[in-house]
Amino acid sequence: MSTTILAIESSCDETSASVCTDGKILSNFIANQTVHEKYGGVVPELASRAHMQNIVPVVHTALQSANCQLANIDAIAFTQSPGLIGSLLVGTQFAKSMALALNKPLIAVHHMQAHVMANLIPDKRPAFPFLCLTVSGGHTQIVVCKSPTDLKVIGETIDDAAGEAFDKSAKLLGLPYPGGPLIDKYAATGNALRFTFPEPQIPGLNFSFSGLKTSILYFLKNAGTSNVYKEAFLADEATQKKFIADNLEDICASIQQRIVSILLNKLKKAAIETGITNLCLAGGVSANSGLRKSFTELGEKMKWKTFIPAFQYCTDNAAMIAITAYYKYQAGQFVELNTIPNARAEW
Ligand code: KG4
Ligand code: ZN
Repeated sequence: MSTTILAIESSCDETSASVCTDGKILSNFIANQTVHEKYGGVVPELASRAHMQNIVPVVHTALQSANCQLANIDAIAFTQSPGLIGSLLVGTQFAKSMALALNKPLIAVHHMQAHVMANLIPDKRPAFPFLCLTVSGGHTQIVVCKSPTDLKVIGETIDDAAGEAFDKSAKLLGLPYPGGPLIDKYAATGNALRFTFPEPQIPGLNFSFSGLKTSILYFLKNAGTSNVYKEAFLADEATQKKFIADNLEDICASIQQRIVSILLNKLKKAAIETGITNLCLAGGVSANSGLRKSFTELGEKMKWKTFIPAFQYCTDNAAMIAITAYYKYQAGQFVELNTIPNARAEW
């Protein structure tokens, strides 16, 4: 007997639905919210309203493009945590209503666990155990995955996430939100060795990115002459702007290279300490071309087997919720209809 799951993701500003049969993704439809662009970040209240508008057509489209009838669905899955509470409520309530109406079981999925599980979508999958570096707008984690339902965080950021480091750096450069993809774009033609930003000395497998942000701030205020705080910064605003405009590619390449080296140095440490040689990337920042290239090169040097999800499964999507739910279904991990979302739940 085959198992078909309808999955819904609504944790932040993407409304997404996916249909999966026996671990194979049949559809993955995503509605992006453009309403936030002019505010320089996601506005929670606007995000939940947009989810309310999007959810019915998004689910409808996902079912249609998978050629799936409601009668064929065996379970409904949804993102329960973490995320913006108003956004999570829309997806949770919709999933609960469908489960009630269809009299089918309900599966709650942790968003960060799902990012890791995106690596199990393609035919070429990592064998267990594997290590995953999950890098998104809100999280930076190193996860040991021993089986589809046995995942453990062994390192994480103590302040900003890697995506925030990209987005906040981009904001300092006057680039619009989300700036991560733009830094990636400008870095492609820049010289990463031109400017040097410090690497934080954090013990163990944890990360820190707040010092980098401060160092970039002072670097720009000094128009590239120094990374340190000065009572009177060397450059006025016009000089700073000109310095950025004249050196944008090199600045982006140098920032990107530092973020990537912070991430990969810790991942290498984790691989050596655990002895695990199957290594994966996950999360929105794994769409970064510098990270993908350096990760693959490091893997060849270290003789790791490396895996990176396809672009559409790196950023927020319901296919990763569906694949996680498929394994939870096999393990009989269901929730009751009185379940509620949680903005900050740990694993
Ligand atoms: O996983 P995700 O889609 O959403 C969260 O769960 O947070 O990640 C979004 C983050 C944003 O910070 C965005 O700037 C970053 O991923 N991002 C990138 C790139 N594409 C997305 N950062 C650097 N380079 C990229 N190409
Ligand atoms: Zn995410």
